[in-house]
Amino acid sequence: MTSIAAGTAAPDSAEFVLRDFGGGPFGIYVHVPFCATRCGYCDFNTYTAGELGSSASPQSWMDALRGELSTAAEVFGELPSPQPRVSTIFVGGGTPSLLGGDGLAGVLDAVRANFTLAADAEVTTESNPESTSPRFFERLRDAGFTRVSLGMQSAAEHVLRVLDRTHTPGRAVEAAREARAAGFDHVNLDLIYGTPGESDADLDASLDAVLAAGVDHVSAYSLIVEDGTALARRVRRGELPAPDDDVLAARYERIDARLAAAGLTWYEVSNWAATDSARCRHNLGYWDGGDWLGAGPGAHSHLGGVRWWNVKHPSRYADRVREGLPAAGWEALTAAEQHTERVMLTARLRTGLPLAELDESERRSADRVIADGLAVRCADRLILTDRGRLLADAVVRTLLT
Ligand SMILES: C[S@@+](CC[C@H](N)C(=O)[O-])C[C@H]1O[C@@H](n2cnc3c(N)ncnc32)[C@H](O)[C@@H]1O
Ligand code: SF4
Repeated sequence: MTSIAAGTAAPDSAEFVLRDFGGGPFGIYVHVPFCATRCGYCDFNTYTAGELGSSASPQSWMDALRGELSTAAEVFGELPSPQPRVSTIFVGGGTPSLLGGDGLAGVLDAVRANFTLAADAEVTTESNPESTSPRFFERLRDAGFTRVSLGMQSAAEHVLRVLDRTHTPGRAVEAAREARAAGFDHVNLDLIYGTPGESDADLDASLDAVLAAGVDHVSAYSLIVEDGTALARRVRRGELPAPDDDVLAARYERIDARLAAAGLTWYEVSNWAATDSARCRHNLGYWDGGDWLGAGPGAHSHLGGVRWWNVKHPSRYADRVREGLPAAGWEALTAAEQHTERVMLTARLRTGLPLAELDESERRSADRVIADGLAVRCADRLILTDRGRLLADAVVRTLLT
């Protein structure tokens, strides 16, 4: 049987890794580790052409991806249980749109060549506005993509500049319209709020633009100053102020109020959708503790309570794929770790945390959270209030201590 993590402290066999696997929705994540330039705030596993030199290219990545998917499919083929149908695919990055429409169609072909997709599979790709066009979206639709997620971040030019984003303020909304014109019913725009220099008026202008674009999904993330990034160095040198917690809370409330008034309802603390079918099923799989295979450099997988992660550098990843599966490490989650994860993730969902998940002492903590007005009990679930959403991390800490 194929070893999952040859050369590391590996699980003995696919059977071991996948012993509890099966039954629920199954997703595939594909990581595209390329960006035209690095945004100063971002610490994702991505590389510019200059950083990679001749060590890796989109072509060598694609060859390795095909190899990884084919080896993974062999492992699945060894299972006694029926082969899972892929209910969601998410091509993320990095900048998947740098591959172009044909390149992304090739990614989907590679998944289809090795796995069976459910008839109603959700197939998303992330894209950067500046590397899209009407033809690009038409090609994606023809290939079978059903959803597009665009990194808009802001409609204010000076905010985009602080974030090192290269698109012009209007381009993201234009790209969203092009995607809808090409036949995409499901289009997401990502916003970042709390960037140094962003005013309330800038945020309002971003929200006006998002709502004018007519998208059915919005993700809004507070700017996180990640260690080791150019942004963190600028904040440390005093060139830029760190995002202020009170400002972030006020911005979140503003975003939620504007989106709710326009019919976009939150379903996870940072995500809003116009209808139930507009919610991102792939991400719901992560949050609901589902199973997924992550392919590509640095991608994480979670199957049947076992998690593993691939080597991060694209050239090392390609080398490892030639030997077998490219895992760098793995862990079998203990029951306590699985519990912690379920609490952390489901507490952030509008559907809430099942109270049956909590032990006696955690239920007493839940009572305190309710008494503080941060959550309500609804049937057998604990659901964050509006104020609780602002303090979601603190709520989770209270429940788990
Ligand atoms: C990693 S990007 C990948 C997709 C695409 N390259 C883009 O930028 O939209 C996915 C989302 O994560 C957001 N993101 C990355 N680093 C972040 C940070 N430090 N704080 C908040 N959002 C961040 C990005 O802005 C983007 O909307
Ligand atoms: S384009 Fe996206 S993935 Fe690339 S550096 Fe910027 S935020 Fe990160």
